[in-house]
Amino acid sequence: MNKLKLIVYSLLVMTATSVIAGEISIDEDYMQVMEDRQKSLSSNISLKKVNAALNDAKSLEESFNDVETFYVHKGKEDAVNWSKESRELAVSIQKYVASNDFDTASQTSVALAKTCKTCHRSYKKDT
Ligand code: HEC
Repeated sequence: MNKLKLIVYSLLVMTATSVIAGEISIDEDYMQVMEDRQKSLSSNISLKKVNAALNDAKSLEESFNDVETFYVHKGKEDAVNWSKESRELAVSIQKYVASNDFDTASQTSVALAKTCKTCHRSYKKDT
């Protein structure tokens, strides 16, 4: 490879990696979507809407995956653990909903709302 090609190649690689690293950004907009999902989930659980509740819990599970990755990059271990905990709760909710155990699903959804608050207490500036 000649020098010019090497430089062009390096630039391409650098651009590509910065785009990947910038893909996940946990900001107010992202959280707002999670908040909407969380509200929708608890109402769908109380209305016993299986498919809608499963969709909400699945979407939260995926969001918490991103939140976890975000904090892994930042090296914030406590936030990583709260993200994991939240994701596991979202997974459990899907199991309870799928087996028509709406009482336990509802309790787990309350527990999930608590982990939101725990992380906010440490990481959200205005609380
Ligand atoms: C691992 C940490 C963490 C978890 C878990 C978490 N959040 Fe957040 N949340 C944040 C941070 C950090 C901010 C502040 C973001 C900012 O201002 O850029 C925030 C901000 C918010 C906001 C304010 C957005 C705004 O417009 O000001 C809402 C609403 C929110 N989160 C909802 C939730 C809900 C609902 C859950 C649980 C289902 C949750 N969050 C779980 C870290 C977390």
